[in-house]
Amino acid sequence: MNLNLNTKYLGLQLANPLVIAACPITGKIDWLKKLEEAGAAAAVMPSLFEEQIEHDEAEIAKLHEFGTQSFAEALTYFPEEDDYRTGPEEYLEAIAQAKKAVKMPIIASLNGTNKGGWVRYAKMMQEAGADAVELNIYYIATDAATSGGDVESQYLDLVAAVKESLSIPLAVKIGPYFSAMANMAHRLSEAGADGLVLFNRFLQPDIDLETLEPNPKLLLSDPYELLLPLRWVAILRGRIDASLAITSGIHDAHSLAKALLAGADVGMVASAIYQEGFEQVGRILRGLQEWMKEKEYDSVEQLKGSISQANCPDPEAFARGNYMKALTTFTGRPI
Ligand SMILES: Cc1cc2nc3c(=O)[nH]c(=O)nc-3n(C[C@H](O)[C@H](O)[C@H](O)COP(=O)(O)O)c2cc1C
Repeated sequence: MNLNLNTKYLGLQLANPLVIAACPITGKIDWLKKLEEAGAAAAVMPSLFEEQIEHDEAEIAKLHEFGTQSFAEALTYFPEEDDYRTGPEEYLEAIAQAKKAVKMPIIASLNGTNKGGWVRYAKMMQEAGADAVELNIYYIATDAATSGGDVESQYLDLVAAVKESLSIPLAVKIGPYFSAMANMAHRLSEAGADGLVLFNRFLQPDIDLETLEPNPKLLLSDPYELLLPLRWVAILRGRIDASLAITSGIHDAHSLAKALLAGADVGMVASAIYQEGFEQVGRILRGLQEWMKEKEYDSVEQLKGSISQANCPDPEAFARGNYMKALTTFTGRPI
């Protein structure tokens, strides 16, 4: 029996549901080729950050001002703003190179929080050849005067602004900390998100007891981190129009199978490649097929969402169901 692993994500037809998540591995052409050879269906490039763009532009503006004020002849050294493409040209060049090097779709990643000049890079990513743009909104609301409603409006305005300039699909990657996630997901979709990528893992700074300083450190994910996006994808499947991707905790074939059963169109993988190497892509895809055969699924489409909240026999399990029972009947004892 030939299994059909095809899936549709952001309107893109993909050979299978395994996408490489945004991380430095996808930023190197040799590694991209290896990932494609191993079977990856698409790759999200590492992010271009709002700070990178704004910083570069501020530096160039300073230089321009300094030069023109100090020396009349300096005017000739500096091209006019309009024909001077400020900001990370290398990123756009990397998109073009990636598109030449591999056949799989390349998703560019733009990362920021405040609507501003940097947003125009979405269009430039499209022009450089990206098949889609993933907008990562990684926002920590530290100001006590900013309400949840304010934050939500900021997200929606940003998504609408980016979407406006694009004719390729837009995915939006967000964190899990909204008080009404289902409503927010719906509004993001209405604002122009063709897909949602769930979830950002927020960098949690530790405190170094020697230096007495905060110590923000990137940790690779643990497999149990799948459970948070798994719940939300199961809840959202069939309730919003946007495609759904799970990122966080997909390390093996079984975790990808669970992501699809909950209702994800694709599973994204980063940590597992760092931990197990490029071959993990092939292992995950082979394992997925073995599991599908065992359970008599013919296609990924058939499998997608079959255990979503709307389709499963125990929808309450994804909400408050069994919560009290699980706590009150817990039999563990302190040793
Ligand atoms: C080293 C590293 C760099 C990352 N860089 C980015 C990035 O530039 N942009 C982004 O949206 N996510 C970035 N991520 C997050 C991943 O895309 C992914 O969402 C996260 O690692 C969870 O997936 P995992 O459990 O498969 O690792 C990075 C992750 C790692 C491990």
